[in-house]
Amino acid sequence: MFSDEQSFTSVTLIAIIFSFAGWIFYCQFLHPLRTIPGPILASFSQAWIVYHTVRGDLEKAQRKLHKKHGYLIRIAPDEIACSDPEGIKIIYGKKTVFSKAESYAAFTPPTDVQDVGYAGHFATRDEKAHSQRREIVEKVYSLPSILQYEPLIDSCTDMFCSTMKEFANEKSVVDLGLWINRYTFDVIGELFFGTAFGFMRLRKDVGLCMTAVDTLRSTFAVKSALPPSLTYFYKLLTIYFMDTVKGAMVAVSKIDAAAMTAVRRRTEAIEQKKDKRRDLLRKMLDISAKTKDEKAFTRDHISFETQNAVFDGGDPTAIAINSILYHLVRNPSTYERVTAEIDAANLSLPVAYDDASKLPYLKACINEAMRIHPSVGATLSRVVPEAGATVSGFYIPGGNRVGINAAVVQFDEKVFGEDSEAFNPDRWFSSDKGKVTKMEETMLQFGMGPRQCIGQHIALVEIYKFVPHVMKLFHIRLEEPVKSWTTKTSWFSKQSSINVYIEERSAGN
Ligand code: HEM
Repeated sequence: MFSDEQSFTSVTLIAIIFSFAGWIFYCQFLHPLRTIPGPILASFSQAWIVYHTVRGDLEKAQRKLHKKHGYLIRIAPDEIACSDPEGIKIIYGKKTVFSKAESYAAFTPPTDVQDVGYAGHFATRDEKAHSQRREIVEKVYSLPSILQYEPLIDSCTDMFCSTMKEFANEKSVVDLGLWINRYTFDVIGELFFGTAFGFMRLRKDVGLCMTAVDTLRSTFAVKSALPPSLTYFYKLLTIYFMDTVKGAMVAVSKIDAAAMTAVRRRTEAIEQKKDKRRDLLRKMLDISAKTKDEKAFTRDHISFETQNAVFDGGDPTAIAINSILYHLVRNPSTYERVTAEIDAANLSLPVAYDDASKLPYLKACINEAMRIHPSVGATLSRVVPEAGATVSGFYIPGGNRVGINAAVVQFDEKVFGEDSEAFNPDRWFSSDKGKVTKMEETMLQFGMGPRQCIGQHIALVEIYKFVPHVMKLFHIRLEEPVKSWTTKTSWFSKQSSINVYIEERSAGN
């Protein structure tokens, strides 16, 4: 005979097994997305996304599946990944009614800043709250605004180049990826904190901030892939039991403190009429002073905006620059051609964005490097509006999720040609203008529509200034020309092992 306790346990177990079997049956035979192909594991759980997020190869796994199954694949019970270029406008277009999926909430940066009431532009899911907040700062991030601060970017480029000169003299191997990361984070410091962080000057990861941002983002990426019921436990597990995450939280609170200090000091300097510096921080403080509703854009909002820039802006820009330089050094004829264009243009140093952005071959190389290796390698997941929507010929009922990964759609053979897996800047010079327009429309590297990257002009100004500047002064070659870089995608697709030798070019050309 069984005791009451044993019977209870058996009944509970049987109930669990039946519910699970019922759930699998529902997902396989009744769910509205049941006809969309994909891995079995994905049809009834988040496990497939979690597995590839932990492995860091989500975009590669998706590319493989799309090749096998076509434009639509099921990557979770209620989520479809779409690789149809026609889906871009439907999901992300200007008038989109698709909202960011719950998974974005995982990316809310931890902060000690008080009274913000906002998860940041990136993680906020309430589209109305997002558009109100974004409108306040839109001007700060516009191209004309960023162009006012070119000298701040130049100061970082100077620091980068003088360090590279030393390495060139020593003939030592340079971890290019590391130095470019230090460069882009220092630029964020110049623009948002009133001074570079000193990653390049001190030649180290000051306060372990860069490592912290990287660690936390990888943790957030896994958290974003988990079912909502598990995210709380995952958070507790990582914060209390993983030393790397514990350390990262400490480092991030230092970034937070630095943001608050920067805002406080500048406010004091302005009040004492001593502030002569012009940068994005000053611009935000001026907007705050002019905003009629005192609570709409406070010092706390500005501190949070500033802190967020460290999370959102340093890594993706470094990834893009890495991709450009890496693909150039691996393709010597392209490298020579772009160098010849830069030399012929007789660019003055520091390179001005206006001059560099007019160079057609350089532009094609930048486009191509960001096509073949977009900085974000994850699906930009959206919730289908209540009325449902038809994407790539399939009607998706409201409440399900659908998204496109730039690192998949930017390989579409119909749009980019059969050699879409190859680095070929010449594709951007096709005589078929319609084809080029279609390629441009299929570039999702900065996202699209109301949630498009707010920092894209910062990134593009940096890229267009930095790449020709460095190429004018130096020749770069890989330490091991046959060895490929390694990449790991935790939202951003970060590269490593770009080890190079740097040589100074005679008389700057
Ligand atoms: C090459 C460099 C960059 C790339 C490729 C990039 C890529 C992206 C992408 C794809 C999105 C859209 C995400 C989505 O729709 O789910 C995004 C959003 C965002 N990015 Fe960037 N980013 C770059 C640089 C920057 C910089 C420099 C900053 C700020 C300093 C920044 C701040 C943001 C913010 C705040 C959002 C959220 C925008 C919103 O939802 O309103 N990014 N970025």
